[in-house]
Amino acid sequence: MRGGGLHFHFHLWLVFLFALTAASFGLGVENQSVRCIAAERRALLDFKKRLTVVENRLVSWTSEEEECCNWIGVGCDNSTGHVVKLDLDAMFTTGEIGSSLLELKHLSYLDLSSNHFHKIPDFIGSLSELTYLDLSGNSFTGFIPHQLGNLSRLLCLDFSRNSLSSFIPISFDNMPALQRINFEGNNLEGGIPKSLRNICNLKELNLNDNKLSGSLGVVIKNLSGCAKDSLEALNLARNRLTEALPDLSILSSLRKLSLSGNQLEGPLPVSIGKMSQLVLLDVSSNSLHDCWNKYMILTAINLENNDLSRIIPNSLGSLQTLESLRLRNTSLYGEIPQSLENSTALKLLDLGDNKLTGIIPPWIGERLNGLNVLHLRSNEFHGNIPSTLCRQQLLQVLDLSLNNISGDIPSCLNNLTAMAHLGSSMALIPLVGITYTVDFIGAIGINFHEHLLVVWKGFEREYGNTLGLLKSIDLSCNKLSGKIPRELASLQGLINLNLSRNMLRGSIIREISQLKSLDSLNLSTNNLSGEIPESMSELSFLSMLDFSNNNLSGKIPSSTQLQSFNATSYSGNPGLCGEPLRKCPGGEPPKMPNNGGNEGDEGLFEPLWFFIGMIIEFFIGFWGIFGSLMINRSWRYKYFQLVSKLTDWIKLTMALMMVKLQRKLRLKE
Ligand SMILES: *[C@@H]1O[C@H](CO)[C@@H](O)[C@H](O)[C@H]1NC(C)=O
Ligand SMILES: *[C@@H]1O[C@H](CO)[C@@H](O)[C@H](O)[C@H]1NC(C)=O
Ligand SMILES: *[C@@H]1O[C@H](CO)[C@@H](O)[C@H](O)[C@H]1NC(C)=O
Ligand SMILES: *[C@@H]1O[C@H](CO)[C@@H](O)[C@H](O)[C@H]1NC(C)=O
Ligand SMILES: *[C@@H]1O[C@H](CO)[C@@H](O)[C@H](O)[C@H]1NC(C)=O
Ligand SMILES: *[C@@H]1O[C@H](CO)[C@@H](O)[C@H](O)[C@H]1NC(C)=O
Ligand SMILES: *[C@@H]1O[C@H](CO)[C@@H](O)[C@H](O)[C@H]1NC(C)=O
Ligand SMILES: *[C@@H]1O[C@H](CO)[C@@H](O)[C@H](O)[C@H]1NC(C)=O
Ligand SMILES: *[C@@H]1O[C@H](CO)[C@@H](O)[C@H](O)[C@H]1NC(C)=O
Ligand SMILES: *[C@@H]1O[C@H](CO)[C@@H](O)[C@H](O)[C@H]1NC(C)=O
Ligand SMILES: *[C@@H]1O[C@H](CO)[C@@H](O)[C@H](O)[C@H]1NC(C)=O
Ligand SMILES: *[C@@H]1O[C@H](CO)[C@@H](O)[C@H](O)[C@H]1NC(C)=O
Repeated sequence: MRGGGLHFHFHLWLVFLFALTAASFGLGVENQSVRCIAAERRALLDFKKRLTVVENRLVSWTSEEEECCNWIGVGCDNSTGHVVKLDLDAMFTTGEIGSSLLELKHLSYLDLSSNHFHKIPDFIGSLSELTYLDLSGNSFTGFIPHQLGNLSRLLCLDFSRNSLSSFIPISFDNMPALQRINFEGNNLEGGIPKSLRNICNLKELNLNDNKLSGSLGVVIKNLSGCAKDSLEALNLARNRLTEALPDLSILSSLRKLSLSGNQLEGPLPVSIGKMSQLVLLDVSSNSLHDCWNKYMILTAINLENNDLSRIIPNSLGSLQTLESLRLRNTSLYGEIPQSLENSTALKLLDLGDNKLTGIIPPWIGERLNGLNVLHLRSNEFHGNIPSTLCRQQLLQVLDLSLNNISGDIPSCLNNLTAMAHLGSSMALIPLVGITYTVDFIGAIGINFHEHLLVVWKGFEREYGNTLGLLKSIDLSCNKLSGKIPRELASLQGLINLNLSRNMLRGSIIREISQLKSLDSLNLSTNNLSGEIPESMSELSFLSMLDFSNNNLSGKIPSSTQLQSFNATSYSGNPGLCGEPLRKCPGGEPPKMPNNGGNEGDEGLFEPLWFFIGMIIEFFIGFWGIFGSLMINRSWRYKYFQLVSKLTDWIKLTMALMMVKLQRKLRLKE
């Protein structure tokens, strides 16, 4: 009996447990299903009605789907069910921003960025709970509505990349919480209203690329309320600000400052030395002259395109944190001061297009061994290339062209490990990492782009985010003599090699075929002799070749892609013959001395493999860049800014591949 009693109890427990589970389960389901509030759902449907959505990205927004909190881009408060977030970033949407949004009384996050909206509705000032408002990358024109000033809880305001004109509204005094303002890439005019000075939490102000005018001194004065102590990043680049630099040290928290591309003149004030937080200073492309004092923890200085007309000051050497020093085209003269040897953190040193003299100091190789980019192009340096440069294991871009450098090309160049690696674009992104395009505070940070002019294939190209892809040596237009060192052939990652206009002699090294990534090779106007090595045919990625004006002789190897280059690539070599130049005397049939019986088979399949290889190459490169965009959220915000650059890159890559393919196919005919 006892056993039976136990049994009974046990059953009772089971039933009870089951009921309890079912009840709680049911409750849970019920709570989930009623989250969406009917009025807000109607408002969203009404909002959708006024939109034209290409590709129907808002497919989940239907009257059938009850739970609007699960609709794409919609976020609800877990406890109240109110819609608090609307994220319609890049939905390919156009049409009218309907006032039904006002029904969403608890909306605090609104992101309509990267769509095609045209008009900022006035009612936006009545969405009083908003903390985050991103309308960037649309086609908004006209005024910034002054009603915005009523959004007293707003933290982030991003209207960048539109076509807004008019003045910055003065109604901002009522926005105490505001931390970030981004109006980059519009057509805003006038000055910066005084009302901004009262935004005591303002950390970032980005007005890059507008038409703002007036005296910088007044701008700074207008900002110097409590905002002057909170501001960490100020980007006023590419506007029309005038007059001399004022005392900027009153902006006591400032970390990044760009005044590039304005009409500023006069000296850099000594007070900049007092800005102990400053890490990035870009005053390039102004009319500043004379110079600087001892900056503190600066990591990047850009003074490009200013007429400084002076020697490089010794005091720069005290900047031991400096990672990027750009003094291109600043009329500098004299020698590179030894004090710079203490700037051991340098990754990018660009002293190109100046009148610097003396030798290339050996300590550059010994002390500055974190350099990724060394640009000494177009100066008056003489002497040898110091062999210590070979210690630059991270060097990717070496440009010593247009100087008066003599002696041999050092044979230790194979020690430049970064160039010896066939690294994928992914692995190279870290160089772009020094670009500071990645924000230092949160999502809609200010962009300070690092870029570099590189001469590649005869064009001066500006490399921004694709800089990391480039591995290049340019020693052209110097007085280098001796032979091309064999060791150069170990630099397998090299994409561009320009040794033109020197006095190099000897033959073209046979090992050159090991430079498998080479896209562009210019050996013109030297005194190279001997035959073109047969192995050159293995350089399948070569799209530009110039051997002109040397002393090369013999027959251009045939049945290779070497025939697809213009005859001008070989001209000025009296002893050279064969396609695409005149026929060789002796009239031997143009058949490559090949040791293959199965040549025909290879010939048949090669184009296919070549084509497949190219597609793979393209996608590796493509995902190298896009992959990182997807991974990193803050990068995604940059997506639409990047797009134009990326499409350029894709176009370039595609064009290169088409040329290669055409050449390959032409050869097969
Ligand atoms: C379910 O919703 C009711 C109010 O609608 C609430 O009181 C209850 O705590 C919710 N239960 C759970 C498990 O969230
Ligand atoms: C709401 O719930 C989701 C998952 O159900 C969770 O990720 C999110 O953090 C919650 N939000 C809040 C404000 O609790
Ligand atoms: C903004 O606030 C002012 C008062 O400060 C008020 O007169 C105006 O109607 C408000 N505008 C909107 C769009 O709410
Ligand atoms: C300074 O602020 C005043 C008042 O807001 C404004 O009229 C003027 O245009 C501003 N000047 C500059 C140079 O920003
Ligand atoms: C060099 O700087 C000057 C101003 O100092 C500018 O006028 C010129 O256009 C710049 N040259 C290049 C090639 O950018
Ligand atoms: C480099 O720094 C060291 C120690 O900080 C100092 O002794 C030396 O004089 C500096 N070199 C130059 C050239 O300024
Ligand atoms: C090149 O690298 C090797 C091994 O890392 C080293 O022994 C040699 O000294 C280096 N040569 C130069 C000139 O730096
Ligand atoms: C280049 O160097 C040679 C000696 O090597 C010298 O005679 C000549 O004047 C230099 N040219 C320039 C422009 O410095
Ligand atoms: C090589 O350098 C010369 C002179 O600097 C330049 O004219 C030429 O365009 C460059 N060629 C390539 C392929 O970069
Ligand atoms: C190669 O360099 C020479 C001079 O350095 C230049 O004139 C020529 O245009 C370059 N070749 C190509 C194809 O860019
Ligand atoms: C080129 O090299 C040959 C020997 O290979 C030499 O006779 C000739 O003088 C050199 N020409 C120049 C201009 O250096
Ligand atoms: C070869 O170069 C010459 C002169 O630069 C040009 O006129 C000609 O069109 C080119 N030919 C081809 C096939 O590209």
